[in-house]
Amino acid sequence: MELETKIRELREAALAQAREARSADDLADLRVKYLGRKGLLTGVLRGMAALDAASRPAVGRFANAVKEEIEDLVLERTDALARTEMDRNLTASSVDVTLPGVPVGTGGLHPLTLVRQEIEDIFVGLGFTVVEGPEVELDYYNFEALNMGPDHPARDMWDTFFLDEGVLLRTHTSPVQVRTMEKTAPAVPIRILAPGKVYRRDDDATHAPMFHQVEGLMVDRRVRLSDLKGVLAQFARQIFSPDIRTRFRASYFPFTEPSAEMDISCVMCGGDGCRVCSQTGWLEILGSGMVHPRVLAMSGYDPSQVSGFAFGMGIERIAMLKYGIDDLRVFLDNDLRFLTQF
Ligand code: PHE
Repeated sequence: MELETKIRELREAALAQAREARSADDLADLRVKYLGRKGLLTGVLRGMAALDAASRPAVGRFANAVKEEIEDLVLERTDALARTEMDRNLTASSVDVTLPGVPVGTGGLHPLTLVRQEIEDIFVGLGFTVVEGPEVELDYYNFEALNMGPDHPARDMWDTFFLDEGVLLRTHTSPVQVRTMEKTAPAVPIRILAPGKVYRRDDDATHAPMFHQVEGLMVDRRVRLSDLKGVLAQFARQIFSPDIRTRFRASYFPFTEPSAEMDISCVMCGGDGCRVCSQTGWLEILGSGMVHPRVLAMSGYDPSQVSGFAFGMGIERIAMLKYGIDDLRVFLDNDLRFLTQF
């Protein structure tokens, strides 16, 4: 009887401790403490030898039942604690898909790229093909083949970066005219548009040592000045607005004859006169002309059989007029407050 009470007490204590255990280690210790080889319950069971044979089976059954009960609870609690631990880890590493997302900037094209593409699209619509030429150029293509021999005074129109004997950074995209004609001659027609970087040594508030131009060239039988005017007036209407007006002023370039600069009616005041157009109502946007017969001849064409027109314009200038930008430097600053407006 005394033994039974002892077992009952041990049972209560063991089960209570198992319920309160906070870790698998606690439970393992508890198991050793009660059920191990030198455990409390084990010790009690050894004392059964002293019992009389009649009560021994009942006490034995009871003790074994208690042993199992403790064993079961320890297992159950160990399992439960492991599950709680797993839940905690899962919660800590899981993603709350209901949280608002972090916006990711998509980036965009530079305004000069956008304007270049718009210019290209307009001329492609008129039958032109986009081509490119090298920025490191031979004197021959930049000057000589454009009717400017070694000592031609018109070379001074372009402040040139020279790299080596006969090698320079192109000062305009006109050398692409020559390269194209050389490759194509004597076949016609040629209708090309050549965008790209050009370099000039002038550097002040309104000039940068590198800027962008687009060159145009058309060569065919019977190309006339009116073709030049028609194509460029159409371009001006498409890039600026349908009611823009254009005028051609006689000018000079060694590689065109006659030469003309094209003006558009001022995009700010519509022609009334303002600060942007210096009260003239007009803005100069490009240089152009009929390809000089000597340029045609040097590149493999017979000027008695074919004729052509050419033009060149600055992309920065077109972009500034189109978007009302008054400072060239914003194109190079990479200030997102500026760039994200386009
Ligand atoms: N290449 C000239 C310049 O940069 C522009 C131009 C091109 C003029 C084609 C006439 C014909 O100033």
